[in-house]
Order: sequence, then structure tokens, then C-alpha cells
Amino acid sequence: VIVQGGEGGGHTGSVATTVLLPQVVDAMDIPVVAAGGFHDGRGLVAALAYGAAGIAMGTRFLLTSDSTVPDAVKARYLAAAVKDVTVTTKVDGLPHRMLRTELVDALERSGRATSLLRAVRHAAAFRRESGMSWAEMVRDGLAMKHGKDLSWSQILLAANTPMLLRASMVDGRTDLGVMASGQVAGVIDDLPSCAELVDRLMAEAQATLHALPATA
Ligand SMILES: Cc1cc2nc3c(=O)[nH]c(=O)nc-3n(C[C@H](O)[C@H](O)[C@H](O)COP(=O)(O)O)c2cc1C
Repeated sequence: VIVQGGEGGGHTGSVATTVLLPQVVDAMDIPVVAAGGFHDGRGLVAALAYGAAGIAMGTRFLLTSDSTVPDAVKARYLAAAVKDVTVTTKVDGLPHRMLRTELVDALERSGRATSLLRAVRHAAAFRRESGMSWAEMVRDGLAMKHGKDLSWSQILLAANTPMLLRASMVDGRTDLGVMASGQVAGVIDDLPSCAELVDRLMAEAQATLHALPATA
């Protein structure tokens, strides 16, 4: 099981990793991987101390030289401070953590509530893009709705998200697209390769462990 605390990028909840993770570790008897807010070796050691089997990182791996995200988009993430990362429900009706851009500000200001008409329009556009049938979309929507208190408008509006993510992450349209991001974007300021990142993280974790006071 991967547990993502509220610090994490993309669709996210309101409970921080530090509060959520130990609860899930206590409730599960299979390995639990911690996500949300991790970017260095200290975080890995902290997650292990909470009883996690390891960490998963989204934002940190997005900001590597190996990541295929356009350079202009990576530059927006690198320039962001922690407070430039926000949670909005205005993009797709669900709490979604992303960089606070002009688009997000405009959506927040417009204060538009989730309307079924808008939702259906987005869903129809997504269907055309993805080539999915309405039956497949309804099936996926039902799976998404299962166990959650979501309206059909919210489910349909969520169909908009892949297109908005693609506009930024693939096409480099920082003006039009949504840039999902964890709060850690605010403390990341380099673009190592994935290999360099993992080596560095493991060395930091070892150093952190060695710096702990010895136990009897
Ligand atoms: C750009 C971006 C896109 C993401 N897209 C998805 C997704 O489609 N589905 C999903 O389950 N999680 C998605 N996530 C969440 C990540 O899988 C991961 O749980 C999260 O990034 C962990 O938090 P962190 O960003 O603090 O490392 C996304 C995260 C980012 C940053």
C-alpha cells in the first residue's frame, strides 16, 4: 500500500504524512510505502522510523535531468516557493495540489461551482481524445466513485485533468496546463539525474542514521 499525505502532489487529502502514515502502518499487515513530502535521505529515515517499508517520490523524480517534462515547465517548479504550491478544487472538482499559476488564480477568482453541463462537456472532450467508449468511462467513473462521497459532476469534471496535465507536462504550455506538484517543489532547486539522486539520498540516509545517538 502506498500512503500519500496531504503534502503530496496531484489529487491529495488534507491529512499530513506524519499523521496519516503511522495510522496506516498500524492498521495494515502488509508493507506500507510512504509518499507525500519526501525528497531527501532524512525523509527516508523518518519514514522508516514510522514503520514504512520505503518511500515513493513524485515531485522529486519529476525534477531530474532524466525526466522528459519540458525545461520551461521544470523551471516553473524550480522557481516555486513552498507557498506557491496550493490545493484547489476548481480544476476538476477534487482537491488537487499543484503550482499556483495564473490559470489557477483565475479559476479560484471565478468561484465557479461544479456545474453538470461543464462537467459533461469536459467528459465528452476527454472521450474524443482518449478514444474510450462511454461504457468504459462510466465503468471507470463508478470505480472512482466507489467508497467516496463524490457527485457525478465531480467524476465527470475529473475527466478534464489528463488533458490539462498533458498541456503542461508534454506540450510545455505553462499558461494553459495544470502543473501538479507536491509542497517539496518549494525546497528543490536542482535537476540531478535519477542515479545521482538515489545515490545522494542513500548517502544522506546513512549519514543521518550514523548521526543518531547510539542506543545501549
Ligand atoms: C505531476 C504529477 C502527476 C501525478 N499524477 C498522478 C496520477 O495520475 N495518479 C496518481 O495516483 N498519483 C499521481 N501523482 C501522485 C504521485 O504518484 C505521488 O503519490 C506524489 O507525487 C507523492 O508526493 P510528492 O509529490 O510529495 O513526492 C502525481 C504527482 C505529480 C507531481
